[in-house]
Parts: sequence; structure tokens; C-alpha cells
Amino acid sequence: AAAAARRPTVCSAGGSELKLFSPSKINVFLRIVRRREDGYHDLASLFHVIDLGDDMAFEELAGTASADALSCNMDGVPTDESNLVIKALNLFRRKTGRKQRFKVDLQKRVPHGAGLGGGSGNAATTLWAANELCGRPASNEELLEWSGEIGSDISVFFSRGAAYCTGRGEIVEDVAPPLPLDTPLLLVKPPVGLSTPEIFKALDLGRRSTADPLDLLARLSTEGAAQELTVNDLEQPAFDRLPALLALKERLAAEGRGYSSVFMTGSGSTIVCIGSDDVPAFLQEPQYTDLFVTPARLITRQLTATRSICHRAQ
Ligand code: C5P
Repeated sequence: AAAAARRPTVCSAGGSELKLFSPSKINVFLRIVRRREDGYHDLASLFHVIDLGDDMAFEELAGTASADALSCNMDGVPTDESNLVIKALNLFRRKTGRKQRFKVDLQKRVPHGAGLGGGSGNAATTLWAANELCGRPASNEELLEWSGEIGSDISVFFSRGAAYCTGRGEIVEDVAPPLPLDTPLLLVKPPVGLSTPEIFKALDLGRRSTADPLDLLARLSTEGAAQELTVNDLEQPAFDRLPALLALKERLAAEGRGYSSVFMTGSGSTIVCIGSDDVPAFLQEPQYTDLFVTPARLITRQLTATRSICHRAQ
């Protein structure tokens, strides 16, 4: 897993095949502002792209092809219309009027139901790749705007890496990264994933934090990722549902070395330790052997002509 997170993150086009790194994200803080009439929630969150990600390869299919062809190395990942990659290709065709079909190979490392936005990152990367391969009929701004139609946390992958997100999560404002680039993380996820709609549904608004999100953002850059600043209002419903997740978080905080904070990302079930990628000894105990454990880093990202460049500190 360590090797996976340390892979090179600069990919480029070769011939007619476009190979791209599709990163994932963490929510450094996640405040839920209100429940909306349309069933969604307005939120305020600092999203940060990280260097754990998937590899994607894109090719245009011959004009006669009547469907996209998606392949994936990970068992249990659907390769039909329910996959966000295919939804992104359908969206691209609908918006641009293009008829082009694509071959997409997805080599996944980011687990599902993890709060890491792996599938959302794949959708954003796919929109960008389809646009590149078709000679760029749309601007990055249009791609970002369209992406909100297929999911709330896809738009953030068009940001430069650190973004303050509001609305459903689709209103993206690039911010100067408040935490040092390359900050080490340890990601720990139990085999059970959590369903985003279920976690939002189980959220008790009366038990939310009262922290002002803009105050959290400002304080992160002066105080660093302190425990009190990495608030996640979705921890309450996630921990109610999975008490073992709270126990895991507490044990990581108590026994890990060098973390400034330990918190859940998104709607879970990944626990993020920030400030160090130390793997505590207790994770070797038999009850923890099936956990997904990987080091990662905060990165920035730039989607430019024929290249997806993920920057890390020199
Ligand atoms: O937008 P996305 O498809 O990722 O959202 C999945 C579900 O999560 C929504 O149908 C909704 O139930 C919930 N959600 C929410 N508020 C958000 C984002 C998601 O209630 N801001």
C-alpha cells in the first residue's frame, strides 16, 4: 500500500491513448449548514486532493461503436451505466452533442464507500479526458459546471487541490492551501463502507458542531490541522451506525505518533490521521488485519493540455 501511494503522479498522452492519474480527496473539515427542500444538504467544507488515486486510460472507439467499453481491475465495481465513468461520458455527449464512444480502463486503488471521493474523481477525470480526446469542445469551467449534475463532490476535482466547497458541495472556490503541501496522512478504513444517503439521513442536526466554517478555514492556516479544527458533522451519524469506527478513531488518536488530528472524511468510513503516516502497532492485532491502511499526502492538481499534473512539494 505504501508503494501505491508513492507512485509517480505525472501522466501524459501517448499516441491515441490518454493516461491520467485520478486522485481522491479528504474533507479537512465538513460542516452541514442546513437540510434543503430538495433532499440535499447545504454544506461548507475544505476539500483537499490527495495522492492516493486510480490510474485511468482512455481511447476513442471507432465511429461504429454503439457503447462505451469500461474495464476495471477491482471486483464488485460495476462497469455498466451505474458507474460514474459512464454517467460522465453520457453527460459529455449530451452537453456537447458529440456521438463519440470511448474505451476506458480503470485501475482502482481507492476503496468504495470510503468518503474519499474515488468514484467522483474518476467521473471528473473522465469528463476532462473525453473533452481532450475530442479536441476540447468545452472549457474547464463548463466541465466543472456540468459535473454537478451527476454528483455533489465531482466539481472539486477541477480545482487546484485545496477548495472551499459550499452548496451541495458543487460550488467550488479555490483557496491557497492552508496546510503545507505534502503533509503526511495515514488513511485507515474498515472493510465495511458507509452509504452517503444513509449517513445524511441519519444526521441529527441538533447534534452538529457550532463552529463557523470560515473561522475553521482561517485558523487552519495559522494553527495547522489541530483536532478542534477538523470538525466533521457526519461523524455523529457514522459513529451511531458503526460504534467500532469511533473506537478505531479514538485508538488511533491515543496510540498513533505525530498526528495533530484524527478525523473521519466525508460520510466515512475512512479515518484520516494527519501530520504523520506512522502506523500504530495495534493495527497488527488480529481484529484489524482486514483494514485498508495506506499512507498518503496532500497534493495540488492542475488539469492542463494533455497532462494531469499532481504537484508535491520538492
Ligand atoms: O450528490 P451525490 O449523488 O453524491 O449525493 C448522494 C446522496 O447523498 C444524495 O442523494 C443525498 O441523499 C445525500 N447528500 C446530501 N447533501 C449533500 C450531498 C449528498 O444530502 N450535500
